[in-house]
Amino acid sequence: MGIIAPSILSADFAILGQELKDIEAAGADWVHIDVMDGQFVPNITYGPIIVDACKRNCSLELDVHLMIETPDRMIPEFISAGADLISIHAEAVTHLHRTVQMIKQADVKAGVALNPATPIDSLEWIIDDLDFVLIMSVNPGFGGQKFIHSSIEKIQKLSDLIKRKNADTIIQVDGGVNADTIGTVSRAGATSFVAGSAIFNTPDYARTIADLRKNMN
Ligand code: DX5
Ligand code: ZN
Repeated sequence: MGIIAPSILSADFAILGQELKDIEAAGADWVHIDVMDGQFVPNITYGPIIVDACKRNCSLELDVHLMIETPDRMIPEFISAGADLISIHAEAVTHLHRTVQMIKQADVKAGVALNPATPIDSLEWIIDDLDFVLIMSVNPGFGGQKFIHSSIEKIQKLSDLIKRKNADTIIQVDGGVNADTIGTVSRAGATSFVAGSAIFNTPDYARTIADLRKNMN
């Protein structure tokens, strides 16, 4: 069964606690937390204190997507705040292997995120170490953007790489995922689906998540 990870980027922050309870009751699996620094991406969001607030207000796994330069500096704080999974961007770190080990040594699941123009080949020698790979299907920075279709072929290529290396890495897709696009990304090999606007901009989260699951295959 696929993993649904609502991105709180599109949640109502005035009532974040309630939003978290609602997505949990609606059948979500992970909470996707988009951290942006205004440097790596042209937007600023939130840091470890929001991860801590999520930890205290729901029991879902916290999936922290770091869209920040030199994430090594901040990873310990996100771990202390309660992150269960952390993804870092391949484009934002020089020593990817070292940063991935830093996350794994703390018993937190490690993922690498790739921007739409970054090739899969960059993962050839790290894939065995990764719990998941996050394929960006929009340019990171904002919710509600249109799905970039070349991501499908990228997911297929990643799926082939994982099989060839006999790894058990999860493929996560992030950006423009909705009831119309989830079937294609699922068939290409993704099993973890981040959805922000497609969930939080609807009135009935349980129904929306059920529709996403129905359209997965
Ligand atoms: C974009 C973020 C996404 C964003 C997705 O930089 O990484 O997680 O919330 O939003 P939607 O699902 O609306 O495309
Ligand atoms: Zn994200």
